[in-house]
Amino acid sequence: MQDQINKYIDEVKGFATETADELEAFRIKFLGKKGILRGLYSDLKEVSADQKRDLGQAINALRQAADEKLQEIKDSMESQSTVQGQFGDLSRPGNPLHVGSRHPISIVKNRIIEIFSRIGFNVSEGPEIEDDWHNFTALNLPEYHPARDMQDTFFIQTDPDILLRTHTSSVQVRYMENNQPPIRTISPGRVYRNEAISARSHCFFHQVEGLYIDKDVSFADLKQTLQYFTTELFGKSKIRLRPSYFPFTEPSAEVDVYWGLETETDYRMTKGTGWLEIMGCGMVDPNVLENCGIDSKEYSGFAFGMGIDRIALLLHQISDIRMLSENDIRFLQQFKGSL
Ligand code: PHE
Repeated sequence: MQDQINKYIDEVKGFATETADELEAFRIKFLGKKGILRGLYSDLKEVSADQKRDLGQAINALRQAADEKLQEIKDSMESQSTVQGQFGDLSRPGNPLHVGSRHPISIVKNRIIEIFSRIGFNVSEGPEIEDDWHNFTALNLPEYHPARDMQDTFFIQTDPDILLRTHTSSVQVRYMENNQPPIRTISPGRVYRNEAISARSHCFFHQVEGLYIDKDVSFADLKQTLQYFTTELFGKSKIRLRPSYFPFTEPSAEVDVYWGLETETDYRMTKGTGWLEIMGCGMVDPNVLENCGIDSKEYSGFAFGMGIDRIALLLHQISDIRMLSENDIRFLQQFKGSL
């Protein structure tokens, strides 16, 4: 019997497992209700009195060994499972980090901001829900002015005084009301017009407004600024200014950049002329300066406004303006890597 017990002790000490099932089988085998130890204890009743002491000690040693082994393996399993619980399987490959992409509108907007910031323009913003004063009246467009029809306005409910701004020129007014010259600011933002949605136009789009007010600002300053801008943004320095009309600038002009006629796309985009219209501009009308609290005898300045969406279409060869607001992930992912 002693030999048998010694063999059991060896078996217990040599036991190793990593699975809970095997450990449970081990426990049942030695420590269970019908296990080896129970058997040994009941055998012990039958042995003669002089052997009882030694055998009893041996069985106790076996039980202790089995208890200790069980506890030891349990402990090591638990500590492993907390590591796994915290970190999962440490040998698995990591989760891929998805690289996001900027929206093409933001890419173009950021480039425009960067170009103007180099010549001292800051960035200003205003609300998209505007009042009549900032969107129209202060800009020399009093009630019943026919030029209001040029911009099909969305009004907020029935209040004719509250509307969705039709251009970022409203931010000019707000900026001049709150700042004295010298002023050099550009104002990017979303604008709204009640127009039919098509591949070429949308009922909301984005503009960047520019405003420069100081002493002795002339039309030559405006031209030079525009030429610097088109050279930086498009790599094209040939521009032309066509006389135009805006109520808030006098004189006013439309700016075309010479795009060229090298490819078929150039022909299509410029309708065969090589010229592309990119913005409106002019010298700020003295009435507007006065409306905004700036002395028009002391100060003069220029303003310009351009649409970002069309420029984004142009620079990224996108054929439909609606793609800019559909948020189709397959479209947006193509702009990865651009700032
Ligand atoms: N606000 C004009 C538009 O939306 C653009 C413009 C801005 C023209 C500033 C002249 C000066 O068409």
